[in-house]
Amino acid sequence: MAICVALAQPAFAADIAYTEGEALVLPADYRARTFLTSSIDLSYNKPVPGAPAGLSLLDNVFVNPAAYTAYVATGRWPDGTIFVKENRRAEAAGTISRTGKYQTEVASIELHVKDEKRFPGKWAFFVSDGKTPAEYMPPSAACYACHSAHGAVDTTFVQFYPTMLAIAKTRGTLETAYLKESESLKRR
Ligand code: HEC
Repeated sequence: MAICVALAQPAFAADIAYTEGEALVLPADYRARTFLTSSIDLSYNKPVPGAPAGLSLLDNVFVNPAAYTAYVATGRWPDGTIFVKENRRAEAAGTISRTGKYQTEVASIELHVKDEKRFPGKWAFFVSDGKTPAEYMPPSAACYACHSAHGAVDTTFVQFYPTMLAIAKTRGTLETAYLKESESLKRR
């Protein structure tokens, strides 16, 4: 079947570029990639790098289109997946709209990358100020523990990406820990 051959092709890891050190080059076209969600002031006791305490933030999550296509077909993220979470300052409405908030400058950019050959845990996290290459977060960083304990699919927070969650349900790829966690929330 033609579609299976296409999906079985190894990665598109060429899309992931590192500097000579351990940093990740920010994909220049990330805003033209597949948009998954936007959230405001989600708080999980995680200080967002570069953001002063009390700052209101909106985030936008993008993924590379090839990973999106593979996920839609399988409910799983392939090798070569690159997520970009762009955190922007949220300003109170200005002159025309009286209420609400809108997005202004970038406060930080976080990345979650699946590069199976390079990282023993398959995935790695990176943080950038939006201008320079993104700094590698070692496995001891808080990113890994929270994502692996609570992410609905393979350390990713698909439960916050509405169209992605439905696909994982259909494909049966939700993590057992997530299913237990959502059951116990329902019983509360
Ligand atoms: C206490 C839990 C927690 C910690 C710690 C955490 N995150 Fe997340 N992360 C989340 C949640 C919840 C989401 C989904 C909602 C959102 O913020 O858009 C998320 C989403 C993401 C995404 C979008 C892709 C995905 O995996 O779903 C990236 C990229 C990301 N985080 C990077 C980081 C980085 C880098 C760190 C460490 C500096 C980090 N996160 C630490 C909870 C956490």
